[in-house]
Amino acid sequence: MQVKVYCRFILFLCMLVLCSPHSLAHPEEIKRSDFPSGFIFGAATSAYQIEGAYLEDGKSLTNWDFFCQINGGRFGKVNPSGIMFYNNIIDNLLAKGIEPFVTLHHHDLPQEFEDRYGAWLNPLMQEDFVYFAEICFKNFGDRVKLWSTINEPNLFAEMAYIKGVYPPARCSEPFGNCSFGNSDLEPLIVMHNMLLAHGKVAKLYKDRFKSEQGGVVGIVISMFMYEPLTDTKLDKEAAIRALAFNVAWGLDPLIFGDYPPEMRQYHGSELPQFSLEEIKYINGSLDFIGVNHYSSLYAKDCTQSYCPLGGDHAVKGFTYTTGERDGVPIGNRTGMERFFVVPEGMEKIINYLKNRYNNMPMYVTENGYPSPQHQNLEDTLQDSDRIEFHKAYLAYLAKAIRDGADVRGYFVWTLMDDFEWDHGYNQRLGLYYVNRSTLDRIPKLSRDWYKHFLSYDSVDNERSNREKFISNKIQNYINIRSS
Ligand code: FCB
Repeated sequence: MQVKVYCRFILFLCMLVLCSPHSLAHPEEIKRSDFPSGFIFGAATSAYQIEGAYLEDGKSLTNWDFFCQINGGRFGKVNPSGIMFYNNIIDNLLAKGIEPFVTLHHHDLPQEFEDRYGAWLNPLMQEDFVYFAEICFKNFGDRVKLWSTINEPNLFAEMAYIKGVYPPARCSEPFGNCSFGNSDLEPLIVMHNMLLAHGKVAKLYKDRFKSEQGGVVGIVISMFMYEPLTDTKLDKEAAIRALAFNVAWGLDPLIFGDYPPEMRQYHGSELPQFSLEEIKYINGSLDFIGVNHYSSLYAKDCTQSYCPLGGDHAVKGFTYTTGERDGVPIGNRTGMERFFVVPEGMEKIINYLKNRYNNMPMYVTENGYPSPQHQNLEDTLQDSDRIEFHKAYLAYLAKAIRDGADVRGYFVWTLMDDFEWDHGYNQRLGLYYVNRSTLDRIPKLSRDWYKHFLSYDSVDNERSNREKFISNKIQNYINIRSS
């Protein structure tokens, strides 16, 4: 087994807050004290999207390096430079009072797995992922307490195996035009392997690391909220199905031990079965749900009528989704085609999870605003639209929390302008502007707003337990290192 250590980091800042008794705060008045004590705020990134250095320090090629048509490559055993790199990041974060929240797999993986056996299409990948996770727990688990196994397995399965726009770019008609693949079947297999891999990693953590390290393990799911395109019963059912085929697809197996009943109803034997042995370790394998939520879409029924783009296939739940009704967008447009500004969707998706999963702890692991494209530098830096976006979504999040939802954190996507996958460098979502030529980072107005939001509201309040906990932890760590 040859593996290189890659970790996908979601960074977070430590916070303090008090509850307030209002219902929906006006976005202009949203404050940190609208969130409960101990609620954490942060900014999210992922390694491939910000690190560069694709051939430094003996790093092997990943699927995205290959996809972006980079030649060369080497493979090795666990790479001490990789361990050192992430140790430095973790130590420096802790030294600054920032607790790391680590995602093990965020879209990129060693290309060798792809070449050797088809990566996530093959159950062998489960074992390689467990091996990799064990290395991370052993090396970083003394300081990392919040682990997510996989970022957006549902979106990955869709983009890489239904639409074929992420590596390994596999798909079939009518979803896309790829050289290989089967869009009706392969995403189901890939998701199955990812869920089993998650279950094995969660079990590994529970059996071997949890008692000593005391952390928690969750998974992150990409979640749009869906509204019926029309008022008909069929479209209302389609909206419910869209949630089941996208969100519950990745969560029901890990919380209840099987795919959603809605999926079993519409799929035939192509939807894999879990064996009794597998159910034992996937069922109940989540300590928290990671929520990546940006936007809402309309859902239209395709059981009774033709739909374009494969909406009338079982793999899409016989549902077609769109951001427009009669040419009118569901919310203000952003720089990304399917991302519309629909703040109330945040409350709705959180309530959906709360009700379906008995209010399991949740973290909003990503939420962010893609600036309109082709902006000049000044407008890019004066990103008041991004500020309004976060304020509005936070107001609805605070409302859901006041209504009882157990949400424990919020992470802005993203800390700095990055590589946005199939959009390349054309999308800017960062709190910091990155000059693509000099790599200089310039804070945007949204950075100032977030800093202000996090610092000012709480100055008169007592320091929260969480802050005390973090500073104790840092002190302990410094003591250990210096002894
Ligand atoms: C999410 C990805 C993240 C980023 C945002 C915009 O689906 O997890 O890496 O690209 O979208």
